[in-house]
Amino acid sequence: MIIAIDGPAASGKGTVARALAAHFGLPHLDTGLLYRAVGAEVLARGLDFADVPALARLAASLDVSALDAEALRTGPVGEAASRVAEIPEVRQALVDLQRDFARQPGGAVLDGRDIGTVIAPEATVKIFVTASPEARAARRFAELSARGEAVTPQSVLDDILKRDQRDSSRAAAPLRQAPDAVLIDNTHLDKHESIARALAIAAARTGRS
Ligand code: DC
Repeated sequence: MIIAIDGPAASGKGTVARALAAHFGLPHLDTGLLYRAVGAEVLARGLDFADVPALARLAASLDVSALDAEALRTGPVGEAASRVAEIPEVRQALVDLQRDFARQPGGAVLDGRDIGTVIAPEATVKIFVTASPEARAARRFAELSARGEAVTPQSVLDDILKRDQRDSSRAAAPLRQAPDAVLIDNTHLDKHESIARALAIAAARTGRS
């Protein structure tokens, strides 16, 4: 059983994915962390975002077991991730890893931008999680400022709008709701209501509750 959760930045798709994984006892992969890890290395090594061969080599040599989620969830790394994610050679280098994770025996939950469309079009359950840019920015602002990042509500909203634009308009695997994905718009829902909807959708699609 593959569960694909897609959606824009700060939509709460990670929360929904983790809850479904715990509920069904499935392994979970936050695929955004892969792009974030590549983006973080580009920043750390001072590489040029236009150096496609170097970035593709970085992606191909990524050590998934060494991803530090906390360190990767910063504003600058998110921005760098969105930039490397535009490069088809980088995406290609990360495809097999994600497909292998999705197809392990027993199934898996993956969240990202292109799971239901490109990585696992055969997924049993597909959910597209979204919310208004303002609602997403408010959540991301609370998260980043609690961690001491120097952000303002406006700077976070600007970043979200820029990332939405870049993630949706790129040629390679743009952010898009799969035709057979069920939409959860959680602009006016709290975390528990979002999770309850996701569990109901998964139960309807799989016959397992
Ligand atoms: O979900 P996130 O904010 O951690 O993702 C960071 C960036 O990675 C996002 O702006 C676009 C990219 N990404 C992608 O292109 N495809 C995915 N499956 C996951 C993330």
